[in-house]
Amino acid sequence: MKGVLLVLLVVAGSRGGQALGRGKGGRSTQLPPPPLPEGEHLPPERWFNQTLDHFAPTDNRTWQQRYFLNATFYKPGGPVLLLIGGEGPASPAWMVTAQPVQLAKKLHGYLLQLEHRFYGKSHPTKDASVENLAYLSSEQALADLATFTQAMKQHLGLTANKWIALGGSYPGSLAAWYRLKYPHLVHGAVATSAPILAQLNFKEYLEVVRDSLATVDEGCNVAISRAHRDLRNLLQERKGWSIINKEFRLCTPLDGHNRFDVANLFSVLAGNVEDVVQYNRDNRAFEGVKGTDITIDTVCEIMMNDTMGSYYIRYASLNSLLLDVAGEKCLDHTYSSMVKELKSVAWKEQCRAWLYQTCTEFGFYQTSDALHQPFGYEFPLQFFTGQCQDVFGSRFTEKVIRSGIQRTNTLYGGYDLKVTRVVFPNGAIDPWHALGVTTDLSSGATALFINGTAHCANMYPASPGDPTQLIQAREQILALIQQWLKE
Ligand SMILES: *[C@@H]1O[C@H](CO)[C@@H](O)[C@H](O)[C@H]1NC(C)=O
Ligand SMILES: *[C@@H]1O[C@H](CO)[C@@H](O)[C@H](O)[C@H]1NC(C)=O
Ligand SMILES: *[C@@H]1O[C@H](CO)[C@@H](O)[C@H](O)[C@H]1NC(C)=O
Ligand SMILES: *[C@@H]1O[C@H](CO)[C@@H](O)[C@H](O)[C@H]1NC(C)=O
Ligand SMILES: *[C@@H]1O[C@H](CO)[C@@H](O)[C@H](O)[C@H]1NC(C)=O
Repeated sequence: MKGVLLVLLVVAGSRGGQALGRGKGGRSTQLPPPPLPEGEHLPPERWFNQTLDHFAPTDNRTWQQRYFLNATFYKPGGPVLLLIGGEGPASPAWMVTAQPVQLAKKLHGYLLQLEHRFYGKSHPTKDASVENLAYLSSEQALADLATFTQAMKQHLGLTANKWIALGGSYPGSLAAWYRLKYPHLVHGAVATSAPILAQLNFKEYLEVVRDSLATVDEGCNVAISRAHRDLRNLLQERKGWSIINKEFRLCTPLDGHNRFDVANLFSVLAGNVEDVVQYNRDNRAFEGVKGTDITIDTVCEIMMNDTMGSYYIRYASLNSLLLDVAGEKCLDHTYSSMVKELKSVAWKEQCRAWLYQTCTEFGFYQTSDALHQPFGYEFPLQFFTGQCQDVFGSRFTEKVIRSGIQRTNTLYGGYDLKVTRVVFPNGAIDPWHALGVTTDLSSGATALFINGTAHCANMYPASPGDPTQLIQAREQILALIQQWLKE
């Protein structure tokens, strides 16, 4: 899931924490911001005095949390539409375009967006040291939403209004959980592309990638699988290592005996395809999101083009194309440089915070452990759980991660989530639907499974090329909210 919307477009080729968006876009649940209509100006950032620790009555420390609002469409009596921030900077673009604005216009709603603690400019502590990250959790984030809702009701005179939560990806889960834990504050929720089951080994991710590629041509998976076979052969001898260095544009020479570097290389290369699939045809061409014209079709055209050379050469061409689009000269494949970057406690490192949440609450590791997928088996679960220890310290063992995940599912219920007035839109192409709600949980917790769309597609601005089922999904979401507002 790459936030509410987050675009982590960071830099280095290697991706830490896996669940996270890094490298050329990364694989967190993040939802990148929508394109901004021309001439539109953005609302200014605002600051809310927030409690640091909601669960320690004697701790009175506070910090400044960023939020945005747009009251242009509001008419007295209309709902408050609260967009929930996630694992990246909150973008004010969502306050002037896309689904929130479409809904606000039709419902005469008041738009608010609260940035998630520890992301963007919402810094509860001096830095992101392990001690300080103890204040980062979905429970604290939900309590932030509750405190914010209470205060804004008073401050903006919205006490009698009905509040509807919106979120995509991890914030989609927060939207559903907000309704679960604070039903007196939030009347309904649209939980888009929300993974609601925490799971250590998210090996199904690559299976959905495989299925999504197969919707173009099964030959595409065969070609990727052959490219991996080629790569494994090249790894056998030093001569092969230098071929990989050159063709895959590695920043530093490959040491084929370093299993961490090899794991990271395979994981990053799989990530090239994962990113394209997760965001296939999403309308997000603005604010630094480049290469949105690169789709599943592009990947398969390259992988299945016999005139472009052997399989690994085609895989290398895809890698080069993505490096060029990201404006990167070379691919940083070493495990040590990834860990070094993730260990930095400075605020610039968003991925560190999400990695922490995966290590303590969610897992979600997109491993190569599924048998029937074309990306090889070089990045198993241990490669990811090891990152928790290497980045945060030896206390963060697999046992600790497992108990954190169990705790999350105990807190929220996993698929036994008991909520009403929540809708769960998911896209069939999006790998994250594998941990989402794709059939109704109950009459009040309904699934909207959209054939052919990717991560959070329904949250982006409508475009003329939208498939009928996506247009219908948007209409169904609006109709459901309209119905909830009468209840
Ligand atoms: C935030 O709230 C606390 C406690 O109510 C108060 O002491 C502090 O001055 C406030 N800070 C700001 C910047 O308003
Ligand atoms: C916060 O707690 C400390 C220690 O209990 C106390 O000295 C201080 O006055 C409190 N500050 C506020 C704003 O309540
Ligand atoms: C609210 O959104 C509308 C539509 O995009 C825009 O014209 C207006 O300037 C926005 N208002 C604020 C305060 O940003
Ligand atoms: C295959 O690659 C060649 C050489 O790059 C290119 O000219 C041709 O258009 C490609 N064919 C397809 C079907 O994409
Ligand atoms: C989904 O869409 C594809 C192509 O548009 C179509 O072939 C398939 O039958 C659809 N599946 C369902 C369940 O509607």
